[in-house]
Amino acid sequence: MNQSSDDARAAFAGRAGLGATVAETIDALATIGRGDDGGVTRVAWSPELFAAYQWMGDAMRALGLEVAIDAAGNLVGRWNTGTGAPVVLGSHLDTVPSGGAYDGAFGVVAAAHAVRTLQEEGIRPERPVWIVAFMDEEGTRFGSALFGSRAFVGDDVTSFGDRTDARGVSLRDAMREAGFDFERVAEAAAVERIAAYLELHIEQGPVLEAEGLDIGVVTTVVGLRGYRVRLRGQANHAGTTPMALRRDALAGAARIALELRGFARARDGLTANVGRISVEPGGANVVPGVADFTIDVRAATDDGIAELERAVEEIVTRVASEERLEAELEPTFALAPVALDPGLVETVQRAAAAEGASFKRMPSGAGHDAMLLARHVPSAIIFVPSRDGVSHAPEEYTSPHHVERGMRVLAASLRQILEEK
Ligand code: HGY
Ligand code: MN
Ligand code: MN
Repeated sequence: MNQSSDDARAAFAGRAGLGATVAETIDALATIGRGDDGGVTRVAWSPELFAAYQWMGDAMRALGLEVAIDAAGNLVGRWNTGTGAPVVLGSHLDTVPSGGAYDGAFGVVAAAHAVRTLQEEGIRPERPVWIVAFMDEEGTRFGSALFGSRAFVGDDVTSFGDRTDARGVSLRDAMREAGFDFERVAEAAAVERIAAYLELHIEQGPVLEAEGLDIGVVTTVVGLRGYRVRLRGQANHAGTTPMALRRDALAGAARIALELRGFARARDGLTANVGRISVEPGGANVVPGVADFTIDVRAATDDGIAELERAVEEIVTRVASEERLEAELEPTFALAPVALDPGLVETVQRAAAAEGASFKRMPSGAGHDAMLLARHVPSAIIFVPSRDGVSHAPEEYTSPHHVERGMRVLAASLRQILEEK
């Protein structure tokens, strides 16, 4: 990065409106929710997320878009040109705890830059263009991943209402505190009104950087299964309880995590992760009586998903029995693998070539809002490289060159779709 663009980015950080470059805008938006460790935290229904909505909404209003937040908390900017079904560009502004500046936010910011690019070219599309930041893509706070896009496509999200966060606040109450009525979420359903969906996103993996490529033309998105597991043993004295007599819930959880890891490591294309765990009562000199933890497993095929479902069930049941623990295994989300629209994938590939970008077709190991949209309308995802393949961490980074190129490929794809449809 040369000094002048560094200075420009520093000068712009924290200011309102789109910067001259996508990188400047990303930097400015990332100041909202940034913590001492450099990570960004904007969880669903939080003041930080709505501050980001306000900032992004102002930037979209400055482009002449009509901006609103729908009944499911999705931020929607409408460029009301022409008539007919809109083309939607989207992603999300919520983050994982202490996440990066690019996951989700890059797609929303680049969409606004793409609209500005078309406006500066004097293009007035014959159909509307919407920019959507979907609520709670990450599911960080309530285990309600893809909440906003589920509502947008008309899925029944009733079961999420009573899920609680770490403080015991239900999603229903968090929405009420933010001024929303959980009972009215279904009013956000809008997918039947749209023509196509495009999502620009960081790869969150090492492939594009390792191969020196600019753009990933995504063809499929992995299927996912999420679980909450609660193991109950017996809290006891850490010093006087004979090792053979312990009913140690944390030891059971540790065994399950390692067996799942071994299972996935031994098979191509499968992943398994235990990302959050809590232990009760939590005394250093107490044998853990209870362990609560999450399981996230993924596979690119239905067979892989079925194999993982069987493995989770078998490993949790067997280890709990061997450790003399009671086990509750609660499925929290289930999404089938998705193939993206071949015609739209072709459009993205042509746009990448037209922009002189090097590219490859590739699967997505991360879930995206596009998984929900793709079940209803032609949808595609465009990737840009992630430095060192790192994401969901403060170190998440993509170069100004790559974010700018990604935005131009998004704009070129949008132009083509608008011409074709
Ligand atoms: O977990 C995911 O794959 C996405 O980043 N929400
Ligand atoms: Mn993410
Ligand atoms: Mn994301």
